[in-house]
Amino acid sequence: MSKAIRYDKTGGPEVMKWVDVEVGEPGEGEVRLRQSACGLNYIDVYFRTGLYPQPLPAGLGMEAAGEVTAVGSGVSTLKVGDRVAYVGRPPGAYAQERVLRAEQLIKLPDAISDEAAASIMLQGLTAQYLLRRTYRVKAGDTILIQAAAGGVGLLVCQWAKALGATVIGTVGSDEKAAIAKAHGCDHPIVYTREDFTARVREITNGAGVPVVYDSIGKDTYTKSLDCLAPLGMFVSFGNASGPLPPIDSSEFAGRGSLFFTRPTLFSYIAKRADYEAMAAELFEVVASGKVKTSINQRYALKDVGQAHADLEGRKTTGSTVLLP
Ligand SMILES: NC(=O)c1ccc[n+]([C@@H]2O[C@H](COP(=O)([O-])OP(=O)(O)OC[C@H]3O[C@@H](n4cnc5c(N)ncnc54)[C@H](OP(=O)(O)O)[C@@H]3O)[C@@H](O)[C@H]2O)c1
Repeated sequence: MSKAIRYDKTGGPEVMKWVDVEVGEPGEGEVRLRQSACGLNYIDVYFRTGLYPQPLPAGLGMEAAGEVTAVGSGVSTLKVGDRVAYVGRPPGAYAQERVLRAEQLIKLPDAISDEAAASIMLQGLTAQYLLRRTYRVKAGDTILIQAAAGGVGLLVCQWAKALGATVIGTVGSDEKAAIAKAHGCDHPIVYTREDFTARVREITNGAGVPVVYDSIGKDTYTKSLDCLAPLGMFVSFGNASGPLPPIDSSEFAGRGSLFFTRPTLFSYIAKRADYEAMAAELFEVVASGKVKTSINQRYALKDVGQAHADLEGRKTTGSTVLLP
């Protein structure tokens, strides 16, 4: 018998239960994993609260790392003992063991520990596509990233800096400003106190920025649009404060032919070749030290309720891993 987190109704952190589960043997094209670290992500909160619905009862968690313990028929790319990690659907990564399709797994190089992998598969691949595919950041660009001291935020700050960009980031406190600054954010703005739009205009001598990466949603939407230069791109990749209002296209025309995109990691990794190439690039920037992982919180997986409360309560910085 193995343990996992399940929930049978949406609600607060208390709906998550640590229960016995039957894992079973891998079928054709599948492998079984013993997981040593799981990642904590804001999307887990959206599922738990019901903002993102799924049929219940269900599992939670989108990413983990561990070791292959059994291989189903037809699997030639993996063997028992391989160290692997994944990000993928359906939710269910909060578990000691799991059976997954082999094509969902990426083999880990020696330079990437299980905990490091569990902290970056979702957030780091997101940083990769945001900076390298959605809007391709170039040396000399000045960019704005919201929630700069968060999990995705610290990875974006470091990676954008390594690409030669000037990084402006918003944060909720002075302590978070210092953390963002130490990770490549040139201009942290404490947006609970300062008007971030005015500061962005000041820093860019009135020009605005070519891209805003906004994961906060409802609370920052209009002010984020006001930070963009004409032809700039508004990348709405999350909704920590709630979903955006219905989109009014005149907002985009009036500010100078802006672009709008609402990307999700799962469409960027839908093709196995893209998933592998993105993971290889991520592991390379981490192994080279250009981007460092920031595992600033660790919890036992059975205490995931506290981890969710801390994430929603804006108490965490960087990434969090859950230990099964
Ligand atoms: N679309 C995608 O592919 C994709 C992939 C990964 C993540 N995301 C999104 O990216 C965002 C960051 O994810 P993460 O896991 O790295 O989380 P995180 O940034 O570590 O945590 C969320 C942060 O958002 C800020 N925030 C602002 N308003 C908030 C509110 N009302 N409630 C809670 N937090 C608020 C807080 O930072 P301050 O205190 O500094 O304001 C908080 O620490 C999330 O919105 C997530 O959904 C999207």
